[in-house]
Amino acid sequence: MARALNFNAGPAALPLPALERAREELTDFVGSGMSVMEHSHRGKEYEAVHNEAIALLRELLGLPDTHDVLFLQGGASMQFAQIPMNFLPPGRSADYVVTGAWSEKAVSEAKAWAALSGSSVRVACSTGVPLSEGGKDKAYTRVPSQGELKLDGNAAYLHLTSNETIHGVEFTDFPDAGAVPLIADMSSDFLWRKVDAGKFAMIYAGAQKNIGPSGIVVVVARKDFVAGGRKDLPKIFQYRTHAENNSLYNTPPTFGIYLVRNVLSWAKSVGGLAQIEKWNREKAGLLYGAMDARPDFFRCPVDKASRSVMNVVFRLPSEALEEKFVGEAKKRRMIGLKGHRSVGGIRVSLYNAVTVDNVKELVAFMNEFATANR
Ligand SMILES: Cc1ncc(COP(=O)(O)O)c(C=O)c1O
Repeated sequence: MARALNFNAGPAALPLPALERAREELTDFVGSGMSVMEHSHRGKEYEAVHNEAIALLRELLGLPDTHDVLFLQGGASMQFAQIPMNFLPPGRSADYVVTGAWSEKAVSEAKAWAALSGSSVRVACSTGVPLSEGGKDKAYTRVPSQGELKLDGNAAYLHLTSNETIHGVEFTDFPDAGAVPLIADMSSDFLWRKVDAGKFAMIYAGAQKNIGPSGIVVVVARKDFVAGGRKDLPKIFQYRTHAENNSLYNTPPTFGIYLVRNVLSWAKSVGGLAQIEKWNREKAGLLYGAMDARPDFFRCPVDKASRSVMNVVFRLPSEALEEKFVGEAKKRRMIGLKGHRSVGGIRVSLYNAVTVDNVKELVAFMNEFATANR
């Protein structure tokens, strides 16, 4: 059966070679007569996969020894709470940059912890513009400049969302946090290019976009930052527990981590993040180029400098046409194009497994649709 052209926002497309490898190895993993998910997480077969996934990630990122790679559970949403639990002690304050729905959620969870623990949370900048007078829903169309950030030099950390999956807003360059530890939610743009991960105290990313299946969060964290975290929390919530146990403190999602290994191995085999970045820039260039060429029909609400390379959002002249667009695309096996229910419109997610040819096919359809419906 022909594969769908999967533009889902997450869970999202996975590289076909990573899936085919899983199919080949499914019932007999490395001649063991069992699938990898039937092996003990303490056995040598699984341990080799676990360590290979970590080693591949380190290699792809060029990660310095100062940082650990952890595989955690609970989704990126759990990180919204676990970060302040560990790194926002009583009497201290943390800074948050708000550029969309996901950073709003991160702030809200941090505030809940702050209220419980006698700490506080500051919004160092929000680029949200209220959609109605007094209303709480906001439009987000850009990331802030360094000058707009009202940073607290004594903050416990500065948190930002590198890519807002719903609003299609992405940081190209990261703010200078000075001596304040910088933490980024990179759920939807981790590994689209090489970033200097060493500059961050912590990066976290739900796997279900560029890394593998849902159920795993990848955390890249500076060892001394983790070591300085709160020590009186239940062990399971302390990052140090997972760092000290190579993410094997309790049973990890072994099959998910095996798939992460396959995805990272594929990323290395195609030329690493340099090649992947090239493809991603080409895909985003094709799509934004097609939109900009027909401004009478396609309208991207995001400022040019803040346009996401991973999640491209746009509007058509009417909601009825948007619905028709999604429906007709589906007939051509293009799925996942409906914008998030909170903002509407169209969203095209261009994660690493989406090919340049997939995007060329989509752009051809967009042009055809615009001509037929203007
Ligand atoms: C930027 C960002 N942060 C956090 C999340 C929440 O991730 P999870 O559903 O894994 O908790 C998402 C999910 O799409 C996301 O895109």
